[in-house]
Amino acid sequence: MDSSGNNQDFLPLLGTDFVEFYVGNAKQAAHYYKTAFGYQSCAYSGPETGDKEKVSYVLMQDKVRLILTTPLNSESSIAAHVHKHGDGVKAIALTVKDAYDAFEQTVKRGAKPYMEPKTIKDENGEIKMSGIHIYGDTVHLFIERHNYSGIFMPGFRKWESSYAPDPVGLKYIDHCVGNVGWNQMNTWVKFYEDTMGFKNILTFDDKQISTEYSALMSKVMSNGNGFVKFPINEPAEGKKKSQVEEYLDFYKDAGVQHVAIATDNIIDTVTKLSARGVEFLNIPTTYYDELLDRIGPIDEDIEPLKKLGILVDRDDEGYLLQIFTKPVEDRPTLFYEIIQRKGAKSFGAGNFKALFEALEREQDLRGNL
Ligand code: FE2
Repeated sequence: MDSSGNNQDFLPLLGTDFVEFYVGNAKQAAHYYKTAFGYQSCAYSGPETGDKEKVSYVLMQDKVRLILTTPLNSESSIAAHVHKHGDGVKAIALTVKDAYDAFEQTVKRGAKPYMEPKTIKDENGEIKMSGIHIYGDTVHLFIERHNYSGIFMPGFRKWESSYAPDPVGLKYIDHCVGNVGWNQMNTWVKFYEDTMGFKNILTFDDKQISTEYSALMSKVMSNGNGFVKFPINEPAEGKKKSQVEEYLDFYKDAGVQHVAIATDNIIDTVTKLSARGVEFLNIPTTYYDELLDRIGPIDEDIEPLKKLGILVDRDDEGYLLQIFTKPVEDRPTLFYEIIQRKGAKSFGAGNFKALFEALEREQDLRGNL
Protein backbone atom coordinates (compact mmCIF):
# COMPACT_ATOMS: atom_id res chain seq x y z
CA MET A 1 0.00 0.00 0.00
CA ASP A 2 1.31 3.47 -0.75
CA SER A 3 1.03 6.58 1.40
CA SER A 4 -2.37 7.50 0.00
CA GLY A 5 -3.75 4.16 1.15
CA ASN A 6 -4.26 2.37 -2.13
CA ASN A 7 -2.66 -0.69 -3.61
CA GLN A 8 -1.77 0.84 -6.95
CA ASP A 9 1.82 0.15 -7.99
CA PHE A 10 3.46 3.59 -8.01
CA LEU A 11 6.42 2.24 -10.00
CA PRO A 12 5.12 -0.08 -12.74
CA LEU A 13 8.11 -1.95 -14.24
CA LEU A 14 7.95 -3.73 -17.57
CA GLY A 15 11.19 -5.65 -17.03
CA THR A 16 14.97 -5.27 -17.11
CA ASP A 17 15.94 -3.01 -20.00
CA PHE A 18 19.69 -3.62 -19.85
CA VAL A 19 22.61 -4.17 -17.51
CA GLU A 20 25.54 -1.81 -18.06
CA PHE A 21 29.07 -2.74 -17.08
CA TYR A 22 31.97 -0.35 -16.67
CA VAL A 23 35.02 -2.25 -17.88
CA GLY A 24 38.70 -1.63 -18.60
CA ASN A 25 38.53 -2.68 -22.23
CA ALA A 26 35.04 -2.87 -23.72
CA LYS A 27 36.26 -3.97 -27.14
CA GLN A 28 37.85 -7.11 -25.71
CA ALA A 29 35.03 -7.73 -23.21
CA ALA A 30 32.52 -7.56 -26.10
CA HIS A 31 34.50 -10.22 -27.95
CA TYR A 32 34.40 -12.45 -24.85
CA TYR A 33 30.63 -12.07 -24.42
CA LYS A 34 30.08 -12.88 -28.10
CA THR A 35 32.49 -15.80 -28.24
CA ALA A 36 31.83 -17.39 -24.87
CA PHE A 37 28.18 -16.52 -24.17
CA GLY A 38 26.78 -16.18 -27.70
CA TYR A 39 25.64 -12.56 -27.50
CA GLN A 40 24.96 -10.79 -30.79
CA SER A 41 26.30 -7.38 -31.82
CA CYS A 42 23.55 -4.78 -31.51
CA ALA A 43 24.65 -1.15 -31.20
CA TYR A 44 27.73 1.03 -30.70
CA SER A 45 28.52 4.51 -29.50
CA GLY A 46 31.88 6.24 -29.29
CA PRO A 47 33.91 8.98 -30.98
CA GLU A 48 32.45 8.00 -34.37
CA THR A 49 28.95 8.77 -33.08
CA GLY A 50 30.00 11.94 -31.30
CA ASP A 51 30.93 10.65 -27.84
CA LYS A 52 34.51 11.67 -27.06
CA GLU A 53 34.39 10.46 -23.43
CA LYS A 54 33.56 6.79 -23.70
CA VAL A 55 32.84 3.83 -25.93
CA SER A 56 29.83 1.54 -25.43
CA TYR A 57 28.97 -1.77 -27.09
CA VAL A 58 25.41 -3.10 -26.81
CA LEU A 59 25.02 -6.88 -27.02
CA MET A 60 21.81 -8.89 -27.14
CA GLN A 61 20.57 -12.43 -26.82
CA ASP A 62 16.79 -12.82 -26.94
CA LYS A 63 15.59 -10.39 -24.21
CA VAL A 64 18.96 -10.05 -22.46
CA ARG A 65 20.69 -6.78 -23.28
CA LEU A 66 24.16 -5.91 -21.94
CA ILE A 67 26.14 -2.70 -22.41
CA LEU A 68 29.91 -2.69 -22.03
CA THR A 69 31.30 0.79 -21.49
CA THR A 70 34.91 1.87 -21.23
CA PRO A 71 36.36 5.35 -20.61
CA LEU A 72 38.56 7.06 -23.19
CA ASN A 73 40.51 9.14 -20.69
CA SER A 74 41.84 8.60 -17.20
CA GLU A 75 40.08 11.64 -15.68
CA SER A 76 36.63 10.22 -16.40
CA SER A 77 34.39 9.08 -13.53
CA ILE A 78 34.10 5.79 -15.43
CA ALA A 79 37.89 5.36 -15.13
CA ALA A 80 37.61 5.99 -11.37
CA HIS A 81 34.87 3.33 -11.18
CA VAL A 82 37.01 0.77 -13.00
CA HIS A 83 40.07 1.70 -10.92
CA LYS A 84 38.21 1.13 -7.66
CA HIS A 85 35.97 -1.83 -8.49
CA GLY A 86 37.56 -3.53 -11.47
CA ASP A 87 35.07 -4.54 -14.17
CA GLY A 88 31.56 -4.57 -12.73
CA VAL A 89 27.92 -3.62 -13.02
CA LYS A 90 27.25 0.12 -12.97
CA ALA A 91 23.58 0.18 -13.89
CA ILE A 92 20.59 -2.12 -13.74
CA ALA A 93 18.22 -0.36 -16.13
CA LEU A 94 14.49 -0.98 -15.83
CA THR A 95 11.92 -0.42 -18.55
CA VAL A 96 9.13 1.87 -17.36
CA LYS A 97 6.00 3.45 -18.81
CA ASP A 98 7.01 6.91 -17.60
CA ALA A 99 10.63 7.75 -16.78
CA TYR A 100 9.78 11.22 -15.45
CA ASP A 101 7.19 9.82 -13.06
CA ALA A 102 9.50 6.93 -11.99
CA PHE A 103 12.07 9.54 -10.94
CA GLU A 104 9.54 11.68 -9.12
CA GLN A 105 7.89 8.76 -7.32
CA THR A 106 11.18 7.23 -6.11
CA VAL A 107 12.96 10.48 -5.25
CA LYS A 108 10.03 11.84 -3.24
CA ARG A 109 10.14 8.59 -1.24
CA GLY A 110 13.81 9.05 -0.43
CA ALA A 111 15.87 7.74 -3.37
CA LYS A 112 19.01 9.76 -4.15
CA PRO A 113 18.92 11.23 -7.68
CA TYR A 114 21.56 10.00 -10.13
CA MET A 115 20.20 11.25 -13.45
CA GLU A 116 17.58 13.99 -13.70
CA PRO A 117 14.84 12.99 -16.18
CA LYS A 118 15.75 13.82 -19.76
CA THR A 119 14.45 13.22 -23.28
CA ILE A 120 16.84 12.25 -26.06
CA LYS A 121 15.73 12.23 -29.67
CA ASP A 122 16.80 11.21 -33.14
CA GLU A 123 15.02 10.40 -36.41
CA ASN A 124 13.66 7.16 -34.87
CA GLY A 125 11.80 8.86 -32.05
CA GLU A 126 12.59 9.58 -28.45
CA ILE A 127 13.77 7.87 -25.30
CA LYS A 128 13.06 9.30 -21.88
CA MET A 129 15.35 8.31 -19.05
CA SER A 130 16.22 9.06 -15.43
CA GLY A 131 18.14 7.36 -12.63
CA ILE A 132 18.62 6.85 -8.90
CA HIS A 133 21.48 5.59 -6.76
CA ILE A 134 21.29 2.20 -5.05
CA TYR A 135 23.97 0.32 -3.03
CA GLY A 136 27.63 1.21 -3.50
CA ASP A 137 28.32 3.03 -6.78
CA THR A 138 25.51 1.10 -8.48
CA VAL A 139 22.44 2.81 -9.97
CA HIS A 140 19.03 2.07 -11.42
CA LEU A 141 18.16 3.77 -14.69
CA PHE A 142 14.51 4.12 -15.71
CA ILE A 143 14.10 3.79 -19.48
CA GLU A 144 10.93 4.77 -21.33
CA ARG A 145 11.20 3.52 -24.91
CA HIS A 146 7.66 3.09 -26.26
CA ASN A 147 8.13 6.07 -28.60
CA TYR A 148 11.41 4.80 -30.04
CA SER A 149 11.88 2.49 -33.03
CA GLY A 150 15.68 2.66 -33.50
CA ILE A 151 18.27 -0.01 -32.77
CA PHE A 152 18.87 0.98 -29.12
CA MET A 153 18.72 4.69 -28.27
CA PRO A 154 19.76 8.04 -29.72
CA GLY A 155 23.55 8.39 -29.79
CA PHE A 156 24.03 4.77 -30.84
CA ARG A 157 24.38 3.34 -34.31
CA LYS A 158 23.88 -0.22 -35.47
CA TRP A 159 26.96 -2.28 -34.72
CA GLU A 160 27.77 -4.17 -37.91
CA SER A 161 30.03 -7.16 -37.39
CA SER A 162 30.83 -10.13 -39.58
CA TYR A 163 31.76 -12.11 -36.44
CA ALA A 164 28.61 -13.63 -34.95
CA PRO A 165 28.98 -16.88 -33.00
CA ASP A 166 25.66 -18.69 -32.44
CA PRO A 167 23.50 -17.84 -29.43
CA VAL A 168 23.46 -20.43 -26.62
CA GLY A 169 19.79 -20.11 -25.62
CA LEU A 170 19.94 -17.32 -23.02
CA LYS A 171 16.41 -15.85 -22.80
CA TYR A 172 15.94 -13.14 -20.18
CA ILE A 173 17.34 -11.85 -16.90
CA ASP A 174 15.73 -13.80 -14.07
CA HIS A 175 17.23 -11.85 -11.16
CA CYS A 176 20.20 -9.67 -10.17
CA VAL A 177 21.78 -10.18 -6.76
CA GLY A 178 23.44 -7.46 -4.70
CA ASN A 179 26.08 -7.96 -2.01
CA VAL A 180 25.94 -5.28 0.68
CA GLY A 181 28.09 -4.69 3.78
CA TRP A 182 27.72 -5.95 7.36
CA ASN A 183 24.25 -5.19 8.77
CA GLN A 184 23.21 -3.41 5.58
CA MET A 185 20.74 -5.97 4.19
CA ASN A 186 17.72 -4.59 6.03
CA THR A 187 18.65 -1.02 5.10
CA TRP A 188 18.42 -1.99 1.43
CA VAL A 189 15.31 -4.11 1.94
CA LYS A 190 13.69 -0.99 3.39
CA PHE A 191 15.02 1.10 0.49
CA TYR A 192 13.34 -1.18 -2.06
CA GLU A 193 10.12 -1.28 -0.01
CA ASP A 194 9.92 2.45 0.65
CA THR A 195 11.24 4.05 -2.52
CA MET A 196 10.35 1.44 -5.17
CA GLY A 197 7.32 -0.37 -3.67
CA PHE A 198 9.01 -3.79 -3.74
CA LYS A 199 8.07 -6.60 -1.36
CA ASN A 200 10.27 -9.02 0.56
CA ILE A 201 9.12 -12.39 -0.87
CA LEU A 202 11.74 -14.72 0.67
CA THR A 203 14.17 -14.59 3.57
CA PHE A 204 17.15 -16.82 4.31
CA ASP A 205 18.92 -16.48 7.63
CA ASP A 206 22.50 -17.39 8.44
CA LYS A 207 21.44 -20.85 9.66
CA GLN A 208 19.90 -21.71 6.30
CA ILE A 209 22.85 -20.31 4.37
CA SER A 210 25.88 -21.66 6.14
CA THR A 211 28.59 -24.22 5.76
CA GLU A 212 31.07 -25.49 8.29
CA TYR A 213 33.07 -22.30 7.74
CA SER A 214 31.00 -19.36 6.67
CA ALA A 215 27.54 -17.85 6.54
CA LEU A 216 25.48 -15.17 4.91
CA MET A 217 21.95 -13.82 5.04
CA SER A 218 19.72 -13.03 2.10
CA LYS A 219 16.35 -11.42 1.41
CA VAL A 220 14.65 -11.49 -1.98
CA MET A 221 12.87 -8.31 -3.09
CA SER A 222 10.31 -8.36 -5.91
CA ASN A 223 8.33 -5.66 -7.66
CA GLY A 224 4.54 -5.87 -7.90
CA ASN A 225 4.23 -7.91 -11.10
CA GLY A 226 7.22 -10.15 -10.23
CA PHE A 227 9.12 -9.22 -13.41
CA VAL A 228 12.01 -7.74 -11.43
CA LYS A 229 13.63 -9.57 -8.52
CA PHE A 230 16.62 -8.45 -6.47
CA PRO A 231 17.98 -10.76 -3.78
CA ILE A 232 20.22 -8.86 -1.35
CA ASN A 233 23.00 -10.62 0.59
CA GLU A 234 25.01 -9.54 3.59
CA PRO A 235 27.84 -11.46 5.27
CA ALA A 236 27.24 -13.22 8.60
CA GLU A 237 29.72 -14.37 11.26
CA GLY A 238 31.31 -17.75 10.64
CA LYS A 239 34.58 -19.47 11.46
CA LYS A 240 36.10 -18.16 8.26
CA LYS A 241 35.53 -15.43 5.72
CA SER A 242 32.31 -15.70 3.72
CA GLN A 243 32.08 -15.31 -0.05
CA VAL A 244 30.21 -12.03 0.47
CA GLU A 245 33.12 -10.65 2.51
CA GLU A 246 35.59 -11.74 -0.15
CA TYR A 247 33.49 -9.93 -2.75
CA LEU A 248 33.36 -6.76 -0.62
CA ASP A 249 37.13 -6.91 -0.05
CA PHE A 250 37.80 -7.00 -3.79
CA TYR A 251 34.96 -4.88 -5.15
CA LYS A 252 35.76 -2.35 -2.40
CA ASP A 253 32.08 -1.65 -1.86
CA ALA A 254 28.60 -3.08 -2.17
CA GLY A 255 27.75 -4.14 -5.71
CA VAL A 256 26.14 -6.69 -8.01
CA GLN A 257 27.30 -10.22 -7.15
CA HIS A 258 25.59 -12.21 -9.87
CA VAL A 259 23.18 -11.89 -12.75
CA ALA A 260 20.94 -14.91 -13.29
CA ILE A 261 19.89 -15.58 -16.87
CA ALA A 262 17.09 -17.95 -17.83
CA THR A 263 17.22 -20.66 -20.48
CA ASP A 264 14.61 -23.17 -21.74
CA ASN A 265 17.17 -25.96 -21.97
CA ILE A 266 19.91 -25.75 -19.39
CA ILE A 267 21.68 -28.93 -20.51
CA ASP A 268 22.04 -27.61 -24.05
CA THR A 269 22.99 -24.08 -22.93
CA VAL A 270 25.61 -25.23 -20.42
CA THR A 271 27.06 -27.80 -22.84
CA LYS A 272 27.60 -24.97 -25.34
CA LEU A 273 28.95 -22.52 -22.76
CA SER A 274 31.43 -25.11 -21.44
CA ALA A 275 32.61 -25.91 -24.96
CA ARG A 276 33.26 -22.18 -25.48
CA GLY A 277 35.40 -21.90 -22.38
CA VAL A 278 32.97 -20.60 -19.73
CA GLU A 279 34.12 -21.97 -16.38
CA PHE A 280 31.58 -23.25 -13.86
CA LEU A 281 31.88 -24.09 -10.18
CA ASN A 282 32.72 -27.74 -9.65
CA ILE A 283 30.13 -29.70 -7.74
CA PRO A 284 31.18 -33.02 -6.13
CA THR A 285 29.54 -35.99 -7.84
CA THR A 286 28.24 -37.14 -4.42
CA TYR A 287 25.70 -34.30 -4.75
CA TYR A 288 23.88 -36.48 -7.29
CA ASP A 289 23.83 -39.68 -5.21
CA GLU A 290 20.66 -38.82 -3.32
CA LEU A 291 19.35 -36.09 -5.59
CA LEU A 292 16.19 -37.87 -6.73
CA ASP A 293 15.37 -38.89 -3.14
CA ARG A 294 15.54 -35.25 -2.16
CA ILE A 295 13.75 -33.59 -5.08
CA GLY A 296 11.58 -36.35 -6.56
CA PRO A 297 11.21 -37.19 -10.24
CA ILE A 298 12.44 -34.76 -12.89
CA ASP A 299 12.26 -34.76 -16.70
CA GLU A 300 16.04 -34.68 -17.20
CA ASP A 301 18.50 -37.56 -17.06
CA ILE A 302 20.84 -37.33 -14.10
CA GLU A 303 23.99 -38.18 -16.09
CA PRO A 304 24.27 -34.94 -18.11
CA LEU A 305 23.41 -32.91 -15.02
CA LYS A 306 26.19 -34.67 -13.12
CA LYS A 307 28.65 -34.29 -15.97
CA LEU A 308 27.99 -30.54 -16.25
CA GLY A 309 27.53 -29.86 -12.52
CA ILE A 310 23.94 -28.59 -12.80
CA LEU A 311 22.08 -28.31 -9.48
CA VAL A 312 18.38 -29.07 -8.95
CA ASP A 313 15.95 -27.87 -6.30
CA ARG A 314 12.21 -28.14 -5.74
CA ASP A 315 9.62 -25.94 -4.08
CA ASP A 316 5.83 -26.14 -3.72
CA GLU A 317 5.26 -25.06 -7.31
CA GLY A 318 7.78 -27.13 -9.23
CA TYR A 319 11.52 -27.46 -9.63
CA LEU A 320 14.43 -25.50 -11.03
CA LEU A 321 17.85 -26.30 -12.46
CA GLN A 322 20.75 -23.93 -11.93
CA ILE A 323 24.52 -23.60 -12.28
CA PHE A 324 26.99 -20.86 -11.40
CA THR A 325 30.02 -19.67 -13.33
CA LYS A 326 33.31 -18.79 -11.74
CA PRO A 327 33.90 -15.01 -11.56
CA VAL A 328 34.23 -13.59 -15.09
CA GLU A 329 37.02 -11.18 -14.17
CA ASP A 330 40.27 -11.61 -12.24
CA ARG A 331 38.93 -10.10 -9.05
CA PRO A 332 36.60 -12.63 -7.36
CA THR A 333 33.55 -10.43 -7.91
CA LEU A 334 30.80 -10.75 -10.53
CA PHE A 335 29.66 -14.15 -11.79
CA TYR A 336 26.65 -15.53 -13.67
CA GLU A 337 23.94 -18.02 -12.85
CA ILE A 338 22.19 -19.96 -15.60
CA ILE A 339 18.72 -21.03 -14.49
CA GLN A 340 15.87 -23.07 -15.95
CA ARG A 341 12.59 -22.86 -14.08
CA LYS A 342 10.10 -25.69 -14.33
CA GLY A 343 7.40 -24.20 -12.15
CA ALA A 344 9.59 -23.29 -9.18
CA LYS A 345 9.62 -19.60 -8.30
CA SER A 346 12.28 -19.87 -5.59
CA PHE A 347 16.06 -19.54 -5.75
CA GLY A 348 17.51 -22.95 -5.00
CA ALA A 349 17.76 -22.82 -1.20
CA GLY A 350 18.32 -26.59 -1.14
CA ASN A 351 21.52 -26.04 -3.12
CA PHE A 352 23.00 -23.29 -0.98
CA LYS A 353 25.21 -25.61 1.05
CA ALA A 354 26.65 -27.49 -1.93
CA LEU A 355 27.09 -24.23 -3.78
CA PHE A 356 28.80 -22.39 -0.96
CA GLU A 357 31.11 -25.29 -0.28
CA ALA A 358 32.11 -25.14 -3.95
CA LEU A 359 32.66 -21.38 -3.62
CA GLU A 360 34.79 -21.91 -0.51
CA ARG A 361 37.05 -24.35 -2.35
CA GLU A 362 37.68 -21.60 -4.91
CA GLN A 363 38.17 -18.97 -2.17
CA ASP A 364 40.66 -21.27 -0.45
CA LEU A 365 42.65 -21.64 -3.71
CA ARG A 366 42.88 -17.83 -3.84
CA GLY A 367 44.02 -17.71 -0.21
CA ASN A 368 40.94 -15.74 0.83
CA LEU A 369 39.04 -18.19 3.03
FE1 FE2 B 1 20.75 -16.42 -8.03
